[in-house]
Amino acid sequence: MAKDKSIFTCTECGGTSARWMGKCPSCNAWNTLIEASSEPAAGKNRFGSVHASLAPTSEVLPLAQIEAADFERHPTGIDELDRVLGGGMVEGGVVLIGGDPGIGKSTLLLQAVDALQRSGMNTLYVTGEESGAQVAMRSRRLGLPDSQVPVLPEIQLEKILHTLQSRQPGIAIIDSIQTVYSDQLTSAPGSVAQVRECAAHLTRTAKSTGTTIVLVGHVTKEGALAGPRVLEHMVDTVLYFEGDTHSNFRLIRAIKNRFGAVNEIGVFAMTEKGLKGVSNPSAIFLSQHAEPVPGSCVMVTLEGTRPLLVEIQALVDSGGPSPRRLSVGLDRDRLAMLLAVLHRHAGVACMDQDVFVNAVGGVRISEPAADLAVMLAITSSLRGKALPKGFIAFGEVGLAGEVRPAPRGQDRLKEAAKLGFKVAVVPKANAPKKNDKAFEGLTIYPVERIEEAMQVVRGLD
Ligand code: TYD
Ligand code: MG
Repeated sequence: MAKDKSIFTCTECGGTSARWMGKCPSCNAWNTLIEASSEPAAGKNRFGSVHASLAPTSEVLPLAQIEAADFERHPTGIDELDRVLGGGMVEGGVVLIGGDPGIGKSTLLLQAVDALQRSGMNTLYVTGEESGAQVAMRSRRLGLPDSQVPVLPEIQLEKILHTLQSRQPGIAIIDSIQTVYSDQLTSAPGSVAQVRECAAHLTRTAKSTGTTIVLVGHVTKEGALAGPRVLEHMVDTVLYFEGDTHSNFRLIRAIKNRFGAVNEIGVFAMTEKGLKGVSNPSAIFLSQHAEPVPGSCVMVTLEGTRPLLVEIQALVDSGGPSPRRLSVGLDRDRLAMLLAVLHRHAGVACMDQDVFVNAVGGVRISEPAADLAVMLAITSSLRGKALPKGFIAFGEVGLAGEVRPAPRGQDRLKEAAKLGFKVAVVPKANAPKKNDKAFEGLTIYPVERIEEAMQVVRGLD
């Protein structure tokens, strides 16, 4: 309908074209043109008001003379969520919550928004995926049959913006951003152009009205639908849900937070009555084998402020002419690197073997401190020999075969000792210098190189 208003902009060079083409006419890049509304608001850049609201003054001032405004925070009362948010929802802040379908985004947000409504805040729940009746059904299931949260089933951006302007809620949930579409664009809801345009408008509204806006975004496979990644730079806070939908535990991780620390995690259990915070999560990602099995090694990862024990599993099996390397929850490129280091420095060859590694429970581990545990799990699987009962390992392994310390190693060791682990192979720099009661019961083997770690493990057979 608004075909003549649309132009296409290249995501690489910013060049424009009046019609869609496979190749950008300016920089010759392929598949970079996306649709954008060409209608400027009253002769100015259509994002002018975002900047205006961020910096109401156009005067140039030294930093010291600019008053630092403290953010007004509203704790949701759900401790694990407040922890990742850095203390609560921030006035005028925009939060993006991403995650696989069915992982619990709508459940958590309904719980949070209901708590805020009960604390006296004006709220709004915009639902584009489900009908009002479905949301009501969920609120009954959550034990909130008397919820006063106003629900707006709507997917058209202009109508949502109108309701935001007229009701001026303290917080609004948009579930989900992929269902919202603007009249100004011809592309389908969920396309990159629509998702970006709608999110930009909503962000602008948040900044100018002080409403906290929470955008729900599904993580989608690359394709016609735009995942939340395209919005990460626009919003203040990005949270991702992790976890295996088949297990009860869910993690929420802050990837970006303009108002708090990143890499803090919140841990929840999905129960019959919604998501409940798990305040002491350190042992939930262990699979609790009755007897040690080959190919399994527990590591202590430090996510935010709390150490978590996670089991790393590996399976090494004879492969075909081009063996496979697969990893779930761990970086695949890093796995290839670790296999090369294993071969070169420890003489463990997996060239003709398929290698699979997995972090138990659907956790994603991005820190290199997992290296040592990954390598020990692989070696254990290859040898068909289990590591001893109560064994943990952590430490980064470099290309030269050196084992580098992990941040806050002693905290990790203390947590392992507290949970009753018996043997630890750790980087030398992480080993405690003096005897401390906190490590009681844990025999610690400090190592400097990967070959040394292998030797220690063989000695424990
Ligand atoms: P949902 O919040 O709808 O996921 P998302 O919005 O991320 O797509 O959660 C869906 C799953 O959670 C669904 O499979 C049912 C389950 N669930 C519970 O186990 N307990 C509950 O109290 C609720 C509301 C949902
Ligand atoms: Mg949902």
